[in-house]
Amino acid sequence: AGSPWVILSRNFTEHCVHGWDNLPRRLLMYFANAAYSMESYFQTVICSSSDFRNTTVNGDLRYFVWDDPPGLEPRILDETHLGNMVNSSAAFARRFAEDAPVLKKVDDELLNRSSAQLDPGVWCRNLGEKQGGGDVKACSKWGDINVVRPGRAGERLRRFISEIIHIRGCTVAAVS
Ligand SMILES: *[C@@H]1O[C@H](CO)[C@@H](O)[C@H](O)[C@H]1NC(C)=O
Ligand SMILES: *[C@@H]1O[C@H](CO)[C@@H](O)[C@H](O)[C@H]1NC(C)=O
Ligand SMILES: *[C@@H]1O[C@H](CO)[C@@H](O)[C@H](O)[C@H]1NC(C)=O
Ligand SMILES: *[C@@H]1O[C@H](CO)[C@@H](O)[C@H](O)[C@H]1NC(C)=O
Repeated sequence: AGSPWVILSRNFTEHCVHGWDNLPRRLLMYFANAAYSMESYFQTVICSSSDFRNTTVNGDLRYFVWDDPPGLEPRILDETHLGNMVNSSAAFARRFAEDAPVLKKVDDELLNRSSAQLDPGVWCRNLGEKQGGGDVKACSKWGDINVVRPGRAGERLRRFISEIIHIRGCTVAAVS
């Protein structure tokens, strides 16, 4: 079992569909009738395969805060979590309340954009500012779309991924 948020490689997906042994399809029928199958199906298939077992990366790029003892859902994040959330380098986080002020802080302080605005980047020369007679359409002036210049958050994400990429393989836990 594991996180329901997965990134699947093409050849693992092909194994699930066309696998020479029937296990992926038999497990699919089994997990179709089990609770929380997104947290078990791919994990069971990949950890049962000697070819793919070592290709797993144990990280879903998410920041959570759990109660102690953990409940069914992680805690709702607010501004008090922002520092740790940023320092965790995770690309995603949950849960947030709708229109939570912490989301505006993420836009202002991390992404440097107003809400509903695109992320600034070299590819987009103008972000839709008001000018003279009216609004200038966002990104009507294009830059070079091939230039990817990571900001501080991008650098943190690069370090985070290069750390977790080494944590390979499945942990076999005894279930009593
Ligand atoms: C997977 O990793 C284990 C432990 O490091 C190793 O013994 C095994 O040979 C590896 N299997 C493959 C297919 O690379
Ligand atoms: C999956 O495909 C990648 C890229 O072609 C390859 O490097 C890797 O060895 C493949 N993994 C398995 C288990 O076949
Ligand atoms: C986040 O990391 C920075 C730099 O290492 C540190 O100064 C800051 O105290 C950390 N914030 C939290 C909330 O841990
Ligand atoms: C944030 O964006 C504004 C323009 O929208 C720009 O002038 C400023 O330099 C940016 N700040 C950072 C830290 O990227």
